[in-house]
Amino acid sequence: MEETVGKVAFVTGGANGIGLGMAQAFLEGGVKVAIADIREDRLRRVEPQLREISDDVLAIRCDVVDTDAIARTLDQIEAKLGPIQICCNNAGIGLGGPFQTFDEATWKRILDVNLWGVIRGGREISNRLIERGLEGHIVNTASIMGMITGRGSAAYCATKHAVVAISECMSEDLKPHRIGVSVLCPFIVDTSIFYPDLDDDDHEAIAERKKKNPLHKFALGPKYVGELVLRAIHENELHIFCDGKETPDMIKNRFDRVTSAFARQFPEPADT
Ligand SMILES: NC(=O)c1ccc[n+]([C@@H]2O[C@H](COP(=O)([O-])OP(=O)(O)OC[C@H]3O[C@@H](n4cnc5c(N)ncnc54)[C@H](O)[C@@H]3O)[C@@H](O)[C@H]2O)c1
Repeated sequence: MEETVGKVAFVTGGANGIGLGMAQAFLEGGVKVAIADIREDRLRRVEPQLREISDDVLAIRCDVVDTDAIARTLDQIEAKLGPIQICCNNAGIGLGGPFQTFDEATWKRILDVNLWGVIRGGREISNRLIERGLEGHIVNTASIMGMITGRGSAAYCATKHAVVAISECMSEDLKPHRIGVSVLCPFIVDTSIFYPDLDDDDHEAIAERKKKNPLHKFALGPKYVGELVLRAIHENELHIFCDGKETPDMIKNRFDRVTSAFARQFPEPADT
């Protein structure tokens, strides 16, 4: 979408972190924004902050594991702001731990939020856009962990690799309908996903955890990520990366490891 001013965006997980960063960047860019989040307290806290940027904002409680609730939320938003043309399926949780320690309920929970949340939002919005003959753009939040793998990340990686794959396929399926698709693959962003057990207002404990987190030095600001997303929508960029320094080699190394299997299994015939 080259022109987004005056268009309506829907952002899940929009009351904190990256989703909130997208909402701020979009509002500053003249986009009308509806944020949805499972956390009422966060919605109440950030709505007035967003309203300082623009009046064209709505904050609605919605759990992305509930298909009917998503449809109802979209109806409510569209009644107030108009047809949604930008949909950011961003809500996610970050559970880590060894594969063998995750029980079935934990697997189901992370798949339901991180993967099915993206599927539910994407299906509902793409069908609405197609029915109305409107152009649009869908942004699915994956992670750099949707491109690489690592110890203690089986469940998270499963959801994020699936989000990358789905987004690449959606992009092909929706192209004829003038619906662009992007998949956001950040490395480290300064958000509460790393401290789910801490209260948002417990600034001291959060600062302490950040000091101890060796990855925190790479953390980007959520609003900067939101600005990258808006640019990617304008440029119809499929893969949105947020860092050109640390992550390119991570991805290259993973694919080198994968493709090295060909050389072992199908060696070049020796010159005779
Ligand atoms: N922070 C990072 O470094 C990082 C890196 C890569 C990818 N991501 C991804 O970015 C997305 C946003 O994460 P974040 O870092 O901003 O985390 P965050 O915890 O700061 O924000 C996520 C928001 O999603 C909401 N949410 C959780 N479950 C929900 C549900 N079922 N329905 C509706 N809302 C729900 C939470 O209440 C929260 O406000 C996630 O998909 C995450 O996996 C984050």
